[in-house]
Amino acid sequence: MCCLSLLSVMQMVRYAQTAAAPAPEPKIKKFQIYRWDPDSAGDKPRMQTYEIDLNSCGPMVLDALIKIKNEIDPTLTFRRSCREGICGSCAMNINGGNTLACLNKIDTNINKPTKIYPLPHMYVVKDLVPDMSNFYAQYKSIEPYLKKKDEAQEGKEQYFQSVEDRQKLDGLYECILCACCSTSCPSYWWNGDKYLGPAVLMQAYRWMIDSRDEFTEERLSKLQDPFSLYRCHTIMNCTKTCPKGLNPGKAIAEIKKMMATYKEKKAATVNILIFVN
Ligand code: SF4
Ligand code: SF4
Ligand code: FES
Repeated sequence: MCCLSLLSVMQMVRYAQTAAAPAPEPKIKKFQIYRWDPDSAGDKPRMQTYEIDLNSCGPMVLDALIKIKNEIDPTLTFRRSCREGICGSCAMNINGGNTLACLNKIDTNINKPTKIYPLPHMYVVKDLVPDMSNFYAQYKSIEPYLKKKDEAQEGKEQYFQSVEDRQKLDGLYECILCACCSTSCPSYWWNGDKYLGPAVLMQAYRWMIDSRDEFTEERLSKLQDPFSLYRCHTIMNCTKTCPKGLNPGKAIAEIKKMMATYKEKKAATVNILIFVN
């Protein structure tokens, strides 16, 4: 048999196999999604149900949302970018827990609908999009960048850091600021305007312990009021929910320890000054 006819026989066998393969049973899964459009007059928050055949959908909740938007309802609004747990923009509440839609596998039990809400206790811009303005303003307030006392030296040479000091930042620098932890914290729900919340406090700690930063005391001093730090009651919802496996609750506990030493040191300085005068 020549090569050409061998090829066409193989093709025919393949087509026959394809034609013979039975179509998979449809796996229809319900998704109940929070909807609210402030631009549509009189619209009230409500849940809307969508049905998707899981046979033709990717495995993650974000895949289902994209499928709904592309094929069923282009008005459904949500944030996403990287699709791999890096940008933090697809944070939402799925089946009662705050998480990233792109890292959350669809529950394949078709008898149980998947319920999706925006991050809790946040103002809503539209549908699953929370207003992050307060969260970002709080992040800005902790000055999340390296600070040196002598600005004249800035940019002159590299700031070296030992391997050991660099390792102290592990488990802190990986935070993607998705706000899953802060919006799962009851203290943040009730005092989100004054309490900084776990995500921002963990980043405050990250800069406090950076061996190259020279503003540790000033950073601690800014958190001395009764709200910024001390509203944390170690409930640990934050650590339980973090989709990156980080431990903001522990970082807050470490700041409290540093604060105790800082306050003792400050009190001792005041006593010496009184004594000298
Ligand atoms: S440990 Fe603190 S920050 Fe974390 S959830 Fe509890 S109160 Fe909130
Ligand atoms: S600590 Fe975790 S949950 Fe909190 S903002 Fe960072 S990545 Fe998100
Ligand atoms: S899309 Fe970037 S973290 Fe989910």
